[in-house]
Amino acid sequence: MLEPLIRANNLEKRYRVGGSVVRAICEVSLAVDSGEYVAVIGRSGSGKSTLMSFLGLLETPDGGQYVLKGLEVANLDRNRRAALRCREIGFVFQMASLLARSSALENVELPLAYAGISRGERRRKAQNALDRVGLSHRLDHWPHQLSGGEQQRVAIARAIVNEPALILADEPTGAVDSKTADGILSLFEDLNRCDRTIIIVTHAPDVARRARRCVTLNDGYLVEDSGARPASRSRSAVRAGEAHELS
Ligand SMILES: Nc1ncnc2c1ncn2[C@@H]1O[C@H](COP(=O)(O)OP(=O)(O)OP(=O)(O)O)[C@@H](O)[C@H]1O
Ligand SMILES: [Mg+2]
Repeated sequence: MLEPLIRANNLEKRYRVGGSVVRAICEVSLAVDSGEYVAVIGRSGSGKSTLMSFLGLLETPDGGQYVLKGLEVANLDRNRRAALRCREIGFVFQMASLLARSSALENVELPLAYAGISRGERRRKAQNALDRVGLSHRLDHWPHQLSGGEQQRVAIARAIVNEPALILADEPTGAVDSKTADGILSLFEDLNRCDRTIIIVTHAPDVARRARRCVTLNDGYLVEDSGARPASRSRSAVRAGEAHELS
């Protein structure tokens, strides 16, 4: 069997707050193949953003193993992890979080600058990415001169400009109207058709339905996975299944 793009085994995250411990992620195992489109759903506080921060190499779990593109992330030092993130992962958050004093074009060029790409090449790639999200007429606009939906599309252009293997989106349609949301989802579907792997966190059932696979978190546990390989089912999902069979 081919090595999946993502392989996470028994991820754990605990936060200590005052005298108590919050178990944000418990025994989560997940394998995602290249080219999949996965929705992550679950109640507020169930651990979705925490899981995404591990998958996106923004944070490290307290326990468990995470392998991205065959690389065991725990074995990488800070710089190599940052380089891997820059090369392979594009992030889209609920709020576009663009640099306020940079134009749309400059915002999209930013990841390319980190990757050490020449100025001319940066410009060309950023223009292409903005064209892809339908914003080639807004290159020189500053964020405050763009609508919320346009800002989010700039953020998506910034996420895809490096042509990352993996696009992680945490509630990308949470702050836009339904028509803009539809445009954003169509864009993700286009990217997915071009073999990009997409993992999207959402509260909206209609957004989750458009993904081809749905993973559910509950109190930090992965309790349901519509597309799990048998070997990647987490212990918590197995337990949930056993409980279901017994009831
Ligand atoms: N830095 C932190 N310190 C302490 N507890 C935290 C921290 N970050 C998250 N948590 C806790 O971990 C749990 C999971 O948080 P997380 O942000 O992953 O939830 P979520 O599923 O993304 O929720 P939402 O849908 O509201 O965005 C929550 O109970 C939260 O309070
Ligand atoms: Mg969240």
